Amino acid sequence: MANPSSAQTWSQRFESALHPVIAQFNASIGFDIELIEYDLTGSQAHAQMLAHTGIISPEEGDQLVQGLEQIRQEYRSGQFQPGIEAEDVHFAVERRLTELLGDVGKKLHTARSRNDQVGTDTRLYLRDQIQQIRQQILDFQAVLLRQASQHVETLIPGYTHLQRAQPLSLAHHLLAYVEMMQRDWLRLGEIYHRVNISPLGCGALAGTTFPIDRHYSAQLLQFESVYANSLDGVSDRDFAIEFLCAASLIMVHLSRFSEEIILWASEEFGFVTLRDSCSTGSSIMPQKKNPDVPELVRGKVGRVFGHLQALLVMMKGLPLAYNKDLQEDKEAIFDGVKTVQACLAAITILMDEGLEFRTQRLNQAVAEDFSNATDVADYLAAKGVPFREAYNLVGKVVKTSLAAGKLLKDLTLEEWQALHPAFAADIYEAIAPRQVVAARNSFGGTGFDQVRQSLAKAQHRWQEAVDSKI
Ligand code: ARG
Repeated sequence: MANPSSAQTWSQRFESALHPVIAQFNASIGFDIELIEYDLTGSQAHAQMLAHTGIISPEEGDQLVQGLEQIRQEYRSGQFQPGIEAEDVHFAVERRLTELLGDVGKKLHTARSRNDQVGTDTRLYLRDQIQQIRQQILDFQAVLLRQASQHVETLIPGYTHLQRAQPLSLAHHLLAYVEMMQRDWLRLGEIYHRVNISPLGCGALAGTTFPIDRHYSAQLLQFESVYANSLDGVSDRDFAIEFLCAASLIMVHLSRFSEEIILWASEEFGFVTLRDSCSTGSSIMPQKKNPDVPELVRGKVGRVFGHLQALLVMMKGLPLAYNKDLQEDKEAIFDGVKTVQACLAAITILMDEGLEFRTQRLNQAVAEDFSNATDVADYLAAKGVPFREAYNLVGKVVKTSLAAGKLLKDLTLEEWQALHPAFAADIYEAIAPRQVVAARNSFGGTGFDQVRQSLAKAQHRWQEAVDSKI
């Protein structure tokens, strides 16, 4: 039963030590050490507030701030490596502080609980990570925009139901992802403001008897506001769930893109070539070049969805206020953050230098299918034939052409006119792939002029985003 170190962690009420297996089970130091820098910063602000309000003396405040700073240096240099005996990062820091400062160190926890402390740390952490992810989104968009600017006039088959539908400008296709990522960027920006609220000073659950100034510590930590209700402040994890929702949507977008790259890199599609720096080989099949990066991104999605699910389930039955269940939020948040960051970094490199569009093959691909069939119907409709009638007629043309092993462009003018007298020599121009794309010039469509405008707008918006402050 020997675990003497944790016998007196809490109070004199405890007489014997924790069972070692339970100590291990209870401890979070193995993962919440990730929060240490934020714990130190949060504690420094708390100490300053205690001095500011006269709850401790100015000298004591200074000593606490400096002692915490020393622990920061010790941690960064690898000298301070708390183990399981500390239970969690908060105890580890307080214990070290007391070693350094004696009785003054013991004053740090006045008017505070680990419950408001951990909430503060987690928010400070997530605030930083959200900023970093938003920057990564902008980096990814920058690469997509550059690729788009090089491929406005590169054609690519467009699909619905994974069946050839209508040809597209490749830039238009890439810009669709720029839009998705823009929503992700905005969403994180909105969530940021709900992460950025201070629970510090909510105490264990009910506030404190000391004349604290929550707004003062919140201001030092650059929180935008403070939780209005102490019970809510210590037990709210909406901000973490919202973050994981946003992270899940980012992963959805990255995964859809990954799926396309995997398809495009296959021999069947042959739309992209993967460069050596971003693909791997097989241990047995020498001819293979595998799209591991997009596969891993696609494969990691489940982790983030899982973390979201875990937090939702963790919260749904919790009575107010703090319950130890909440300790489970950390690994979900940390892994969610790391997964999104790693996937964004990898896919940005892949898009930047790891893949080459096979433009010739792409342009050729759209010339060998029936994805211009709608344009024949549109051609007739523009000449006054009711669209549904035109549609039915073209259906027949496709059927007979398929049987004859011909494409629409192979029909002679006589054949066209036999089908309908409205067909004239300009039908060939109307169904040429380049014209088919160029003609879809409706707002938000794939017409080259539209795409150029969309690209310019997206570039402008990107620059504004780069210059903006959260
Ligand atoms: N390690 C704990 C957590 O992550 C800190 C808060 C503990 N509070 C308590 N009342 N036991 O949630």
